[in-house]
Amino acid sequence: MVRISIFGIGYVGLVHAVGFAMLGHEVIGYDVDERKLRRLSQGLPTIYEEGLEEGLRMALSEGLLRFTADAVEAVRESDVTFISVGTPSNPDGSQDLGQVIAASRSIGRALREKGDWHLVVVKSTVLPGTTLGAVKKALEEESGLRAFEGFGLASNPEFLREGTAMRDFFAPDRIVIGVQDERSKQLLLQIYEKVSSPKVVTDINTAELVKYVSNAFLALRISFANEVGALCKELGVDCYEVLRIAGMDHRIGPHFFRAGLGFGGSCFPKDLKALANFMESRGLKARIVRATLEVNEEQIHRAIALLEKHLGDLRSRRIGVLGLAFKPNTDDVRESRGIALARELLRRGATVGVHDPKAMENARRELGGAVTYYESPQRLIEDSEAVIIATEWSEYELLDYRGKVVIDGRRVEKAREARVYEGMAW
Ligand SMILES: NC(=O)c1ccc[n+]([C@@H]2O[C@H](COP(=O)([O-])OP(=O)(O)OC[C@H]3O[C@@H](n4cnc5c(N)ncnc54)[C@H](O)[C@@H]3O)[C@@H](O)[C@H]2O)c1
Repeated sequence: MVRISIFGIGYVGLVHAVGFAMLGHEVIGYDVDERKLRRLSQGLPTIYEEGLEEGLRMALSEGLLRFTADAVEAVRESDVTFISVGTPSNPDGSQDLGQVIAASRSIGRALREKGDWHLVVVKSTVLPGTTLGAVKKALEEESGLRAFEGFGLASNPEFLREGTAMRDFFAPDRIVIGVQDERSKQLLLQIYEKVSSPKVVTDINTAELVKYVSNAFLALRISFANEVGALCKELGVDCYEVLRIAGMDHRIGPHFFRAGLGFGGSCFPKDLKALANFMESRGLKARIVRATLEVNEEQIHRAIALLEKHLGDLRSRRIGVLGLAFKPNTDDVRESRGIALARELLRRGATVGVHDPKAMENARRELGGAVTYYESPQRLIEDSEAVIIATEWSEYELLDYRGKVVIDGRRVEKAREARVYEGMAW
């Protein structure tokens, strides 16, 4: 058993707080958002993930998990602290390290009081050099201690996918441990002992970079698929069939190889922007990363163009957007294609209705009163002249689309019975 504290109880932090407790560790969650902490302490999850609510309640009742608004207590009563705060984009696309530095400073202040050796692990996605640069500096300044002497420092980037986050926590493809001292390495290996996935031990900068390389490569597969998709649409060829057959080559593989509305989410867009900005700031070209982002943005306009092909001017036309979460089985709407589409439709003067099975509350914060929120997706279809399918929720396979214009960004087979059916790449 290891005593663990986690700074930043968002998607990654909460899944880890519950996951580590389920592995038998003693976990303390700390966040600057006290409302979140109150909810979580009552066993009420702040995000939707399959298996999370049950895990949270079990961990709380077994006394293996608790939450505190006191950063000093969290550090004092643990042996290792994971930083899993947000790393959003600045307006110019560069990485905003504000939360990471603030968290590092409060951990550093707590370390000054604690006295004992303590391990600090950066789990947030940060550019190479951040852990050994800004994080180390903040920790050393506040604690008065030196890294790798008074406290350990490590990088442990996260690869979980929202929608299957709990499963991914217990069975990731690999666990990347970036360290440069033996004590930190052994403690991290002990924490993940019960997870049977391969553990790759490497240095800190490599661990940080692996995360960006992975996300950029996955995103570029999607943008490449979308570029192929535009060609398939032009030729009247089914892009799914093309990519399925091409993906049977083991050098290519079938995953992340689907055309449609493109990628959203809290990671790909911001991480690719940060990577491109980082490369360019070093005088390097980031052509492929930039092209990946550009192709992705184009998908929204391709969907709108398909709509206009059938409806003409969209002013005052009633358009439904099915799906606001950036992917199924999550309530996360960050950079979601559904939200981006709704905004573009509003900009063009359309009357917009929206539906999502899990993400309506989060969508309200983004779209406010500008759209109509439907509890029933079937009602939304009935009230709309045309609908765009932006998230492939399985329940959208059960709807009746007859009589409508449907622009399908995610390949929902049932929608083919619509009066006019337009797939984005088939
Ligand atoms: N969401 C994912 O699927 C995913 C996957 C892999 C990696 N990541 C990376 O993990 C990190 C966290 O992502 P997320 O989606 O969980 O973010 P999030 O925005 O959901 O959560 C961040 C949390 O940190 C808290 N916070 C902010 N400043 C703080 C501080 N000074 N001290 C303590 N808490 C503070 C916020 O209140 C919030 O609860 C990011 O770097 C992200 O890129 C995310």
